[in-house]
Amino acid sequence: MTVPATMAAFAERMGGLVFGGDYNPEQWTPDVWREDVALMQQAGVNLVSVGVFAWASLEPREGQFEFGWLDEVLDLLHAGGISVNLATPTAAPPAWFSEAYPESLPIVDNGVRFSFGARAHYDPSSPDYRAHAARITTKIAERYQDHPALAMWHIGNEYGTTAYNEAASVRFREWLQQRYGSLDALNEAWTTRFWGQYYSEWSQVGVPGAPAWSNPARKLDFKRFTSDALLECFQAERDIVRSFTPNVPVLTNFMRFYGNADYWRWAGEEDAVALDIYPNPAEPDSHVAAAFNFDLMRSLRGGQPWLLMEQSTSAVCQWHRNHVKQPGRMRAGSYQAMARGADAIMFFQWRASVGGSERFHSAMLPHSGTEARTWLEVKALGQELAGLAEIAGSRIEAKIAICFDWEVWWSLGLGGLPRNDFVYPDLVMRHYRPLWEANLAVDVVNAHSDLSDYRLLVIPNAYLMDADARDRLTAYVEGGGTVVISYFSGVVDGTNRVWANGYPGALRSLIGAHIHEYWPAGDGDQLQLHWADGAQTSATDWQEDIHLEAGRALATYSEGPLAGQPAVLENSVGSGRIVYLGTKLSDVDLGALLITEASRIGEQPLDLPAGVEVTRRNGEAGSWLFVVNHGDAAVEVELGESGVDLLSGTPVDGTLKLESTGVAIIRS
Ligand code: GLA
Repeated sequence: MTVPATMAAFAERMGGLVFGGDYNPEQWTPDVWREDVALMQQAGVNLVSVGVFAWASLEPREGQFEFGWLDEVLDLLHAGGISVNLATPTAAPPAWFSEAYPESLPIVDNGVRFSFGARAHYDPSSPDYRAHAARITTKIAERYQDHPALAMWHIGNEYGTTAYNEAASVRFREWLQQRYGSLDALNEAWTTRFWGQYYSEWSQVGVPGAPAWSNPARKLDFKRFTSDALLECFQAERDIVRSFTPNVPVLTNFMRFYGNADYWRWAGEEDAVALDIYPNPAEPDSHVAAAFNFDLMRSLRGGQPWLLMEQSTSAVCQWHRNHVKQPGRMRAGSYQAMARGADAIMFFQWRASVGGSERFHSAMLPHSGTEARTWLEVKALGQELAGLAEIAGSRIEAKIAICFDWEVWWSLGLGGLPRNDFVYPDLVMRHYRPLWEANLAVDVVNAHSDLSDYRLLVIPNAYLMDADARDRLTAYVEGGGTVVISYFSGVVDGTNRVWANGYPGALRSLIGAHIHEYWPAGDGDQLQLHWADGAQTSATDWQEDIHLEAGRALATYSEGPLAGQPAVLENSVGSGRIVYLGTKLSDVDLGALLITEASRIGEQPLDLPAGVEVTRRNGEAGSWLFVVNHGDAAVEVELGESGVDLLSGTPVDGTLKLESTGVAIIRS
């Protein structure tokens, strides 16, 4: 995937790293706007996202537009040297719209219709919503296409609403007609002879309603459809703004571990990837899941620099208890994102709101003003980033990939499985964490990615595996790749139907074994394993009645009804190898196995103090080693690297001392 010309132009315009946040001037008076611009300059802000929720301020009554205030704000920002990421305000339709088009309010899964008064209160399939969103988007693009402040388009906000409206049923039917071509094909794909769910007319097909035991193929398609319906909204607005400004990049903001939109399908539709993330300061290791999400964002567009579009300077306000980010944590988290490929560090939001549901959400400029320590930290970070322009555009290289696939996520959560407590992001994190702890560079792929850059592929619990995924995986192993794949993988095809030919149908020849039955273990059961090298360990949660064909056992059960049968096995295929884990190894054993496999492909773990994260970005101007100490104590790190720490300006020769939350960027 090449960097689009729009993003190359954007990078040139920004001339380095991007720093800023959401700016909601409609909440403030013009004298405050002037103060804002002056303070943004002090903080080194060079990009603000404007107008994300401003539809009601831009079109206060149907067809009546008020752009004067936004004209003035954009002029002020431009005069202050601050570029604008201009939003289409379509995440928050105005009250008049919801009143005039009540059918557009989404009906959620419990059958209740949303009322006006929050945000994202629209059914993405609603023709009225789409028409009005297109109209306000056109008006904005028409008006600001030549405004010199315009640097980027921010379409909507955090797309994600699932709607069960009549309009959704209509659109879902059209989507299914396109996917399957005929009703016969749909009946076949959905196995509708089961429980007499056979459809004789398209008019009978609609969104899945409340019943918990509803058809798993239908529910899976509805997940796919919901992601696509939201994507259609994005695409429609994107195409409008592009028709006015073909040279300005267009994107929207993604979320951390977000299930309603398949970001692999979305990322190629935009010019760059952007993430909103709010790691919980109360969770001592929330930076590990953050690291994974950063790696995912980088990988979605093949390693291109991405934007950290929103984070908080300190506390958020949406949880039961909202802890502050202790001094230094905001800076460390910002550099962590940069260390994993972000070229933009931005926040929600610039100035703290005095009212509304996010009045206690921290901001770059807090209620307590420029005396506050968070403001001082923001200002210091902005000034520091201004000196790091050389890093922008550099890349991360990885030989290891981990699979994160929305279709697998969805299919594991639809019920009717041998156990129904799979939490896919947690399963993925079990596999990612040891690689993170070993400071090994990891890219993220999905089941359909190009795998040619990788020597080791880690696949957590890929229950759903369609023919394309199976063929890619087979070709990868045959071509010399190593795969570690966890239990309950390769079981169903893309329609959630069990692959024929015995479990795991998609993988049987690859793993060289077949499985008679899946055996979930009881709570607290310790499954004793005996390893080929003599080690004894225990596993939990899951067993499989595995029978070897070409494969070799690496560990067998040492007691119980499966005693002597393989729990972990390996198979050689072509010039590659696959390791299949038929049970849930302990975190320690899983980690050790993954690190052993990484070492076999030449990726040696870095043994550093706990909580220290090291990554490398490479570019034309050099190579930068990022070191972030997430731990609570000062550390001394043996890096074997010499160069200059760009943040302190001091030379580093092999060893580095870092305070808690300390960061170094060593140019070598
Ligand atoms: C999201 C939204 C913002 C704001 C923040 C609060 O990321 O996009 O508008 O609500 O959450 O954390």
